[in-house]
Amino acid sequence: MKSVRVLLSTIILSAFASIAQGAGLDVGIVLPTKDEPRWIQDQARFQAVLKTAGFSSEILFSQGDSAKERANVEALLTKGAKVIIICPHDGAAAAAAANEARRSKAKVISYDRLILNSAAVDYYVTFDSVQVGAAWGTYLSSQATGKGHNLYLYAGAASDNNAFLFFEGAWGVLQPKLADGTFVVCNSSEANGLKGKAKLSREEMARIIGQVTTNWSFNDAKSKAEANLTAANKAMKGIAYVCAPNDGTARAIADVFAMDKDVKKFFITGQDAEKASIQYIIDGRQSMTVLKDTRVLASDAVAAAVAYLKGGAPAKAKTYPNGKIDVPAKPTAVITITKANVKAAITGSGYYPASDFKNLK
Ligand code: BGC
Repeated sequence: MKSVRVLLSTIILSAFASIAQGAGLDVGIVLPTKDEPRWIQDQARFQAVLKTAGFSSEILFSQGDSAKERANVEALLTKGAKVIIICPHDGAAAAAAANEARRSKAKVISYDRLILNSAAVDYYVTFDSVQVGAAWGTYLSSQATGKGHNLYLYAGAASDNNAFLFFEGAWGVLQPKLADGTFVVCNSSEANGLKGKAKLSREEMARIIGQVTTNWSFNDAKSKAEANLTAANKAMKGIAYVCAPNDGTARAIADVFAMDKDVKKFFITGQDAEKASIQYIIDGRQSMTVLKDTRVLASDAVAAAVAYLKGGAPAKAKTYPNGKIDVPAKPTAVITITKANVKAAITGSGYYPASDFKNLK
């Protein structure tokens, strides 16, 4: 009898140990690239949360390659991962990796970017990406009184579902200002053709994004901005309003606009609150960014993983359609950062130390 009790308690203890310490790997995390500060920061935020999470984990990078991403997921599953957290390089291509994880009985959490066309996505932790785009539109509109202002639109990679959500948010605010003539789009015939339409279909957005995409690449952003300014006449320069899709591309585009002697002044958006862009904002070289607190996203993802490891499920606040299912999700709010609040919201809040910046008053 005693030996049965000992045996039973050993089984229970080892069952707990496999949650607490992991029999094999507990959680595998796959991030899109090391080439952008955004994802290096997410890695650091994950490492900080994981230190105290009490389970085993590993973080791999896909370097902008869906085949590598899938190989990463397979490697983590082979090590026994029970939960896979993926930020897909390409939302549709990642469906295969998600399906494979499901076949291995692992839970799949889509991180920041949604995995498309797969029923194997269990949960989505994200920022409110439509709000990010709306913040750009609101900022640019707040700087424009009168009519006929030059607007340059840029977008993220069409393979990233977020690029559509950002665009949808921006369009929602900017479209009435296109319709009433406050802004005139200088670099997209598709946007001009659709300026009377408040709600665009995905296919219509894809047509505009196709003309103004940066592919999330600094080099593509720079060449597109150069080509746009080469094609623009003097009247399309002067004061420019630039809707740039993230900080890396914003700095590349801002540098091009700053070099053109016919551009007297420009307003330019961004997102991610990258350190380099915070310095650009302090120096007046970028007008705004959108702070997406990666500490919150990483801890939400880890909390969801813990819920799964314990046999439960994380709470959902909303669902996002991914082409196959409505994925339960937790979206996090975002904050607009300009020169006016940069000190309080970025260094005052402890997001970055003030010593990382010059001339912060
Ligand atoms: C993310 C942005 C990021 C961009 C490029 C988007 O999916 O939401 O924060 O700047 O990808 O990596």
